Amino acid sequence: MAFPPAFLDELVARNPIEEVVSQYVNLRRSGANLFGLCPFHGEKTASFSVSPDKGMFYCFGCHKGGGVINFLMEIENLSYPDAVRALAQRAGMTVPEDEQYQSRYRQQERLWALCKEAARYYHTQLYAPAGAAGLAYAQKRGMTKSILTKFGVGFAPDSWSGLVDAMRAKGYTDQELTAAGLVSEKNGRVYDRFRNRLMFPIIDVRGNLIGFGGRVMDDSTPKYLNSPETLIFNKRKNLFALNLAKKSKLGYLILVEGYMDAVSLHQYGFDCAVASLGTALTEDHATLLTRYTEEVILIYDADEAGQDATRRAIPILERAGLRVKVLKVKDAKDPDEFLKKFGADRFRVLLEGASNRIEYQLTTIAKKYDLREDDQRIRFVQEAAELISTLGSAVQREIYGGRAAEAAGITADAMKLEVEKAWRRRRAREKKRQERIDLAPAQALRPKDRSIRYDNMKSAMAEEMLICLMMKDPPLSDVTGDLTEADFSVPLLGRVFAQLKSRHDQGLELSLGVLEGLTPEETSHLAGALQRNQGPAREEAARDCAAVIREENRQEKDGSEESLLALRDRMKQRKGVKS
Ligand code: CTP
Ligand code: MN
Repeated sequence: MAFPPAFLDELVARNPIEEVVSQYVNLRRSGANLFGLCPFHGEKTASFSVSPDKGMFYCFGCHKGGGVINFLMEIENLSYPDAVRALAQRAGMTVPEDEQYQSRYRQQERLWALCKEAARYYHTQLYAPAGAAGLAYAQKRGMTKSILTKFGVGFAPDSWSGLVDAMRAKGYTDQELTAAGLVSEKNGRVYDRFRNRLMFPIIDVRGNLIGFGGRVMDDSTPKYLNSPETLIFNKRKNLFALNLAKKSKLGYLILVEGYMDAVSLHQYGFDCAVASLGTALTEDHATLLTRYTEEVILIYDADEAGQDATRRAIPILERAGLRVKVLKVKDAKDPDEFLKKFGADRFRVLLEGASNRIEYQLTTIAKKYDLREDDQRIRFVQEAAELISTLGSAVQREIYGGRAAEAAGITADAMKLEVEKAWRRRRAREKKRQERIDLAPAQALRPKDRSIRYDNMKSAMAEEMLICLMMKDPPLSDVTGDLTEADFSVPLLGRVFAQLKSRHDQGLELSLGVLEGLTPEETSHLAGALQRNQGPAREEAARDCAAVIREENRQEKDGSEESLLALRDRMKQRKGVKS
């Protein structure tokens, strides 16, 4: 659906991109721009830039870019109209819209509110007579009143309609209860999904209540019942307790498996603990974590399943650019049990000794081989050397090389040679890759997205530049003369030109942020072009660009006429031969 252009102008003006982005990314000023770690891909150095004057963001690493609306769409996974609505709300503006149209954002807001009401209901029940068993169980598990309040832990009574009745009384419909995943349906009737369970509310990083995990109070199964996937609840994209942990001053985040582990850690003062929601760790989780920390300490359950999950989680976190440490609790099955048995001080000691992923991975590799057998020892040495060669510092390589040598029963020197060999192989591979990138500058200018094609490079470059000039200095739109969309060799750039021109004629703003009807790839592509075309906005430059576009277009047309003529000639000749 289209919004009035003047409304979009005001919306963009009232949501400065640097302010909106700052809610998600730590930005530092450097000249006219601000830089930070890209929230869309894992990285260790800041290649994500925000230009307040251009009203755009651009990542030099992953080449995503756009205006403030595109940013919100990407980061919150919203559709265009919903991102517009969210920004309107942020700026206190009313969205001019068709009342019939029930937006996704409005629906989400309604479900967030419903889940919050439900959490209030469950929390109240915990202290009501119907919740006595729940409160007793929570106390048995060592939860204090203050931690119950902090997490908003509640109790779902052993009833088929307790929640349904309470929420209907608040004006929520059965359809909304279903959409929020709070009820099950049978024969067209809804009944409470969570019954006789201790309830853990799940809150996203913006503070919206999106779902619940409910634990039984005995050994029956399933131990946990979670909210199903809904419009607002996605297990693969959210982490339990991150809403609290993101405020921690500890400087790292602890990732655990269970709700109970996270709650206990917070109770014992480790307020940086988060847990996944009963799924394996995903790339989305890792990227989410990079918004709040650079270091993650993994403390999964001590059993085989927990250690398997650890092995799988390490590369996912590292690929996102996080520093990873691994800790295995001893004499307890999980962090929760450890804290209750041994207390916070012992846990702190354990934390300090948390090994980095190299130690952990070396142990894992060693376990794969029987080091008494010669051939297995060789394979161990090779695999260990491969791993150690990834380390950036020579000191580290020496230390871990020494350890691996000891395990394999070879000399430290022999191990060092292996590591150097592996390191040289890696270097050669990386160098080759870099060369391929460096040797292809023209390639680098080509759109990353295959659906945008630059067939006529000369014209395309002029088209790019002209559009950038117009956004920099809108009156330059007037010097383009009779140039039209049809003169452009790149359809995308032609479309943008037409939009800019028509906006300028109506006296509206020209910027990346106000363009409509573009895919994220197209917007990112334009942001990249704006980033490349940094020169001053001079009138001659705009005139030159327009001239090049016109000229290239003319030649292209002549070219095709010529080839048509040539074709006709050939046809004639052939006929001549035949007859
Ligand atoms: N989980 C789940 N569904 C289950 C079992 C587990 O979703 N049927 C998820 C929950 O998020 C749970 C996590 O997996 O928190 C880890 O499971 P487990 O270790 O069994 O639970 P804890 O939270 O540690 O609970 P407790 O200490 O009470 O055993
Ligand atoms: Mn557990």
